Amino acid sequence: MTSVVGDYVQVAAPGAGPRMPDSLKGKAPNHIALIMDGNGRWANERGLPRTHGHQAGEAALMDIIAGAVQAGVQYLSVYAFSTENWKRSPQEVRFLMGYSRQVLRRRRDELNSWNVRIHWAGRRPRLWSSVIKELQQAEELTKNNTGLNLVMCVNYGGRTELVDAIKTIAAGAKEGRINPGRITEATVSKHLYIPHMPDVDLLIRTSGEQRTSNFLPWQAAYAEMIFTPEAFPEYDRTTLWRDMEIFASRDRRFGGAVDQATGPL
Ligand code: IPE
Ligand code: IPE
Ligand code: MG
Repeated sequence: MTSVVGDYVQVAAPGAGPRMPDSLKGKAPNHIALIMDGNGRWANERGLPRTHGHQAGEAALMDIIAGAVQAGVQYLSVYAFSTENWKRSPQEVRFLMGYSRQVLRRRRDELNSWNVRIHWAGRRPRLWSSVIKELQQAEELTKNNTGLNLVMCVNYGGRTELVDAIKTIAAGAKEGRINPGRITEATVSKHLYIPHMPDVDLLIRTSGEQRTSNFLPWQAAYAEMIFTPEAFPEYDRTTLWRDMEIFASRDRRFGGAVDQATGPL
């Protein structure tokens, strides 16, 4: 995806852009998690400030969403700001907050027209109230949509999500609403930011880094992982489809095994 830094870039609607490989029809992973990484390095390599990389990421994200909608993906979770990203310079943090708000506001109608339902996953403390408000308005606007569920992970941290769930479960146990002996994986799942969100099937991280940086540790426990060399601004629907084809060729066993010599017993 090429974009002009600072400009509003119109991306092709689902189905209106490049042709999707036929092999993907009906084969989409149910839940894709995307770590949108490499914006800063992409910009610096071009002699531009890091913030220009974040701006270039907007069109990439819209193109990826269009590609996911077209492929029939049910959930796309995108890592936009982590609980660790507060360590960045005040200028970059301020830019990221303001820019998230702006992107949500100017893209929500387009996403709504694509039948996308927006969700926010993250925690309130420290997150700018104007960003929370924008996320909630986008959730409200799109709440009846039945297509792709787009989970915006903003001020999200996987360990924090688990701590928050444990606190709620512990309080429930203390008040007698939850029987500690009956806590199951479903109990935990019910108390995460998006209750009962399906497991991640495919986790993609751009920019060549090979780590998950605290993203969806519970939900991605059995995810297939793909680490792509492209920086996030270079990633688009065609690279997403390429990675979905790689995913489709993987053998997911979930701990099971088939003896190739004797076949199933
Ligand atoms: C990802 O790109 C965007 C956010 C984390 C908000 P980075 O800003 O991490 O860019 P690099 O990884 O430093 O190049
Ligand atoms: C992960 O990227 C967070 C987001 C993409 C929002 P980072 O760039 O913050 O992660 P590290 O520092 O490389 O682990
Ligand atoms: Mg990074």
